[in-house]
Amino acid sequence: MIVRVPIDQLQIGMFVHELDLSWHRHPFLFNKFTLRSQREIDAISETGLQFVAVDITRGIAPPKMPGRKTVGVSGTRLDSSSAAAQPARPIPPICSKLDHEQEVRKASKLISKSKKSVLKLFDDARLGRAVNHKKMVPLIDQILETVDKDPSIILNVARLKTKDEYTYLHSVSVCALMMNFARRLNLGEDKVRELGMAGMLHDVGKMVVPEMILNKPGRLENDEIDIVRTHPAMGHQILSASKNIHPTALDVCLNHHEKMDGTGYPSKLDGNELSLAARMAAICDVYDAVTSQRSYNQPWSASEALARMQQWTGHFDQILLRSFIESLGIMPKGSVVRLSNRSLAIVIGEDPGDFAQAKVRSFYDLERRDTINPCDIQLSRARPDVSIVCQEDPKKFGFKDDELVAIAALENVRTLDLL
Ligand SMILES: [Fe+2]
Ligand SMILES: [Fe+2]
Repeated sequence: MIVRVPIDQLQIGMFVHELDLSWHRHPFLFNKFTLRSQREIDAISETGLQFVAVDITRGIAPPKMPGRKTVGVSGTRLDSSSAAAQPARPIPPICSKLDHEQEVRKASKLISKSKKSVLKLFDDARLGRAVNHKKMVPLIDQILETVDKDPSIILNVARLKTKDEYTYLHSVSVCALMMNFARRLNLGEDKVRELGMAGMLHDVGKMVVPEMILNKPGRLENDEIDIVRTHPAMGHQILSASKNIHPTALDVCLNHHEKMDGTGYPSKLDGNELSLAARMAAICDVYDAVTSQRSYNQPWSASEALARMQQWTGHFDQILLRSFIESLGIMPKGSVVRLSNRSLAIVIGEDPGDFAQAKVRSFYDLERRDTINPCDIQLSRARPDVSIVCQEDPKKFGFKDDELVAIAALENVRTLDLL
């Protein structure tokens, strides 16, 4: 049960269900977490929020709530003196190396479980049987849980699909991308899951396309393209014949290849005729396709894909595309970030080794509160416990824009090998 709790009633042991802020406006790694210290409560109040959505089934309830537990974590009651003893700047929670490795293992298991379920569902479609989407509901919940913790983990694992796995794992990726995107747009819980299911089912019509066309190396002939282009309508037909499929899934299945300028297929609908779900799906679908290894081309890097997608005028809803880029948490060059090794760093480029990772230049020690000799860190090659914790405002630390430009422009900076 979710309740809105005024900031001054937050207590250690409460489970924060949602912070009504974009991720870069608060210092926490996740949007959902248990409050474990007064510093975290102070950090929330520093954001200017008046209320926080708290899940009272996963933590303690506010005063005057039925069944309220009266103690904090480890049975310790809070007092106001503990708040006064804390340093002014909150230190956000940090994902440890062990946590990270565990999450990656969990995501890998979830992906292989998902693959089996999607295979079964798609096999039913291929054999002309109705698809039982209800079996996918617990899977969608687990994927959402992973997305809420750290979307880059599941998206990274799902991106590493082989050519043969593409069609199945593409569905899992689009499901995760849709839910992560929906979170960014602050859509309601039901809507988030609805869009996840729509992402999972969007390409079910591909099951009627012969495998030799689907996995053909090299370019398709015109008649083969015509066959592939039947998959939205075929999928819509399969889903319409199945029980209780949500209209959003039907819409996304039929319209995910439509374009804003009306040149897509199958119905040449334009932007005014396309739902939010269909416009979101068009972005997630293409993004996963071009960043994955497929039979006919090499994958693009995340930033290359996003840069190219922004140039395809008429294809995507460009305002939504900007939100999508933000939902992936890809930091633009020049952003100042806090690293988990207690330093400030400036993003100087893309990490060629990993999706959604950055190459950063650390330049300030947050513990000594002093500048350090800059050094470059390629985050995908760093130990998993060295990671970006949050974006920071450099002005809070007294850095001016021209100083940051000068740091970013330095040449012959040493590279820190953290492996
Ligand atoms: Fe498709
Ligand atoms: Fe697709």
